[in-house]
Formats: sequence, structure tokens, C-alpha cells
Amino acid sequence: MKKFIPVNQPLLTKADISSVYNVLKSGWISSEGNQVKKFEKKFASFIGHKYAIAVSSGTAALEIAVKSLELKKNDEVIIPNFTIISNALAVIKLGLKIKPIDCDKKDWNLNLKKLEKTITSKTKAIIATHIYNFPIRMDKLKKICKKRKILIIEDAAEVLGQKIFKKKCGSFGDISTFSFYANKQITTGEGGMITTNDKSKYLKMASLRNLAFGKKNRFNHEDIGWNYRITNIQASLGLSQLRRINKIVKKRHSIGKRYFRNLSKNKNVFIPEPKKKFAENIYWVVGILITNKKLKINAVKAMSKLQKLGIGTRPFFWPMHKQKILKNYKFNKKNFHNSEYISNYGFYLPTSLTLKNNQIDYICREVNKILS
Ligand SMILES: Cc1ncc(COP(=O)(O)O)c(C=O)c1O
Repeated sequence: MKKFIPVNQPLLTKADISSVYNVLKSGWISSEGNQVKKFEKKFASFIGHKYAIAVSSGTAALEIAVKSLELKKNDEVIIPNFTIISNALAVIKLGLKIKPIDCDKKDWNLNLKKLEKTITSKTKAIIATHIYNFPIRMDKLKKICKKRKILIIEDAAEVLGQKIFKKKCGSFGDISTFSFYANKQITTGEGGMITTNDKSKYLKMASLRNLAFGKKNRFNHEDIGWNYRITNIQASLGLSQLRRINKIVKKRHSIGKRYFRNLSKNKNVFIPEPKKKFAENIYWVVGILITNKKLKINAVKAMSKLQKLGIGTRPFFWPMHKQKILKNYKFNKKNFHNSEYISNYGFYLPTSLTLKNNQIDYICREVNKILS
């Protein structure tokens, strides 16, 4: 058997390693070191927001962001139905209500037409999450939300470096969140970031990250906060990776393009195209959808066959309407037709930055054989 191809492997360069080494040597290993502030500053400027707060994960970023909106119990927050559980958790942990919206069948992002029909007077915010390939049309979403005074948290965890027309993803939200988990565009092992242009929200979120220590009496705390700090070691790795973000984006795009060339002729498979008018595909993951039910192969079966051939894969997100922990909502399956389909028939293929062309070609040959 050929060497196993993992679904993703982080690429750590000599420069990354020496940045981390230098921090270790300096002894400044906690969140107090100067790399954290530098990372925040560089990141804010890259995105085009005034302020940035580095945190311990993308999930932590979302929790802090939602709390900073100061919503009231039972207020509604719209989230995609097809997304990571972190979107729902950030809302329900604060006693707020989620309102999931089904995705588009081909683009897998929350459907804006359905969103407009779902908004009620109780809707106070939306978590707009860019999923896998193309971004949500934030330009259109902003118009919808502005009219109705709905706040936007833009979850750009998967799309660092992507643009809508010429504007960076992550620069549209009232607050935006990012993740630096090992499979993200840039990684700090674990980590995340929050960005905003709103100074008062920035100060509130910076305090929430750091146990909301008291201003006069440090140990008389001002709010129910978290220790969601990031370490100086992680920040140094993030800074080093951020320096080559444009190269990373280009490489992933070229990986995706090669998959597209090899798989798009297969009528039983849908793979998103490299480019639309408003954006280039970021190919954070190369997700594919089995479109022919007559093959009698769902994602689980296809993935198990590929695993035996030494090819790592992952299933798509499990949609919110099927989550055990959300069963009290009694979601009606009929409203989530598209996410129901893609969660059964979608999965993604290896996208490591270290992937070689001959490995991509091998993976595609096997996918085409299985799905023919
Ligand atoms: C869209 C999105 N948001 C948030 C997260 C959570 O990030 P983390 O794993 O850093 O908590 C992820 C993780 O994959 C994600 O894909």
C-alpha cells in the first residue's frame, strides 16, 4: 500500500520553528509577551479592522463575540444550519436562542433568501459563517441586516485571505472571528482571533478574554469572563505564518484547481468551481458531493473505501437540526432539505499544503473509480 495521505497536515517552516525557539529562549512564554500584541496589530491591519484580540480558539472567539453583544435572554441569533457546533454553542450557553437556516445545495453557505423570510422582531444578531469554499455574500447580507438593525458576527475561521470582490473576508462583520487550529490557513496549534472597528466592544471583549479583572481592584471582577488567553509561544508562530498568508492562499487554490480539473467531468460528483464573479474559491477543504443516489454509495461508504486505499477524508459537518444536544428545539427536517442531503453525501479530500500533484491525481483516480 502507498503511504497514507492524511486529510491535512500543518506545514511548519524553519522560520516558524526559529520564531518559537526564540520565544522559548526569551522566557516570555505566557500571554504577557510582546508577540501577542504584535500578532494582534499585524492581524488587524491584514483584515482591515481597527482592533484585534488574540484568543485560545475559534470557539472561544465566538463565545466572547456573542457575549459582547449584550443580548437579552430568549433573543434570537440566526446561524447556518450547516456549520460547526461552535456557532450554536456560543449562543445557547448564554441562554439565547439559535435560529438555524438551511444552506444552498451547491454553495453550502446559509441561504440569504431563506434568511430574509426567517427574520422576526426577536432576531438581534446573525453568525455569518463562510463554509469551506466560497464566502457568503456579505455585501448583500449587510444590506439586509442594516435595515433591520441586526448585528453581524462574521465567522471567517475557514477563509483567512479570501476576498469578496476586493474586500477581505472578516472585514465585513460588526465583529469577526477566526481560528488557528492546525488545519486552518495559518495555525498556532490551537488559537483564534476576534476583530472589530468598535472600540467599546473591543475593550469589553479584551476584558472578557482575561477574566474581566477589576480596574480599581484587580481581583474584584467586572463580569463573568473566561481565561481565553493565547500564549506568547503561539502568537510567535501565528506571526511567522501570517507573513506568508498570500503564498498559502495561492497554494491551496492551486491544489483545489487540480482536483477540480480531475473530478469535474465525473457526472456523479459535484465539486465547487475555482472562481465565481465575486470571489475565488479558497478551497480551505476540497469538499465533494455525491450527486447520483442510484450509485447506492453515501459519504460514509465512499470514505471507508478511500481509507482502505490510503486516502484520509472527513465527513461534512453534521447539521444543527440533527444534533442530539439541540433536540429540544424539535427542528422540522423539511426545512433543512439541503443540509440533510449534503451531510449524507458530502465529504472532503486531503488538502495539506505539502500535497504533491501525483498524490492529487492518485486520489482523483480512485474517487472517479469508486463513483463511476
Ligand atoms: C467555521 C468555523 N468556526 C469556528 C471553528 C472553531 O474553531 P476552533 O477549532 O479553533 O475552536 C471552526 C473549526 O473548525 C470552524 O470551521
